[in-house]
Amino acid sequence: MRKKVIAGNWKMNKTPVEVITFMRSFVELMKNKKTENEIVLCVPYIDVIITQQFLEETNVKVGVQNVHFAESGAYTGEISPRMLDGIGVEYVIIGHSERRQYFNETDESVNKKLKAALAHNLKPIVCVGESLDQRTAGVTKEFVTSQVRKAFEGLSAEDAEKTIIAYEPIWAIGTGKTASKEDANEVCKWIRGEINTLFGNVSENIIIQYGGSVKAANAAELFNMPDIDGGLVGGASLDPEEFFKIVNFDA
Ligand code: PGA
Repeated sequence: MRKKVIAGNWKMNKTPVEVITFMRSFVELMKNKKTENEIVLCVPYIDVIITQQFLEETNVKVGVQNVHFAESGAYTGEISPRMLDGIGVEYVIIGHSERRQYFNETDESVNKKLKAALAHNLKPIVCVGESLDQRTAGVTKEFVTSQVRKAFEGLSAEDAEKTIIAYEPIWAIGTGKTASKEDANEVCKWIRGEINTLFGNVSENIIIQYGGSVKAANAAELFNMPDIDGGLVGGASLDPEEFFKIVNFDA
């Protein structure tokens, strides 16, 4: 049985002072709650330490939203996987569609970042997903297959198994439009099939999340689908009560 992994993606939101306000409610709610689900909060770099301090009392893990592929060096403004490992960050989102769209992230850089993250024992969450035009043109599976193949190029089966994939249709991100549970499951299942072709049986263990306008009202129906192993949650993870409800969805 695969466990469900639910990760919040705060994007470029919350100052450290705002983190304190969030955590005062969230930690209180989480303290008395036992869940089998793996819960992660991917926060801005400057919020990592304060987030870790608060989450120490819970089993919620801390992640970030991007990483550079080099160990160190002349890359002004960047953060390396070694630095993240050094500060105890466990998860990292790689290749989010906003980074692909606004920061020239490519399939090639995603592949390099994925390898670098794995080499430093970070747990990567690699994002893939089609645009509205691609969905309308009927090329969703083709496009997602190509993103997965390029991201996973040169990985061992063992490393592939450690990698989480977040299927996030771009048209569903931040729009309030969620993919239907059937459509979301169909693509997640397709991706699992592709992993099977590339790496064999590890496809049964790899975590494949859905992301795109997940909220408390739709989390259960999505996360209870057979090929959806949890979710990547943007906007709804900014509110402590809403995120608490999502991570404790009715299984
Ligand atoms: P959203 O974002 O939940 O606000 O749609 C999801 C994401 O971008 O990871």
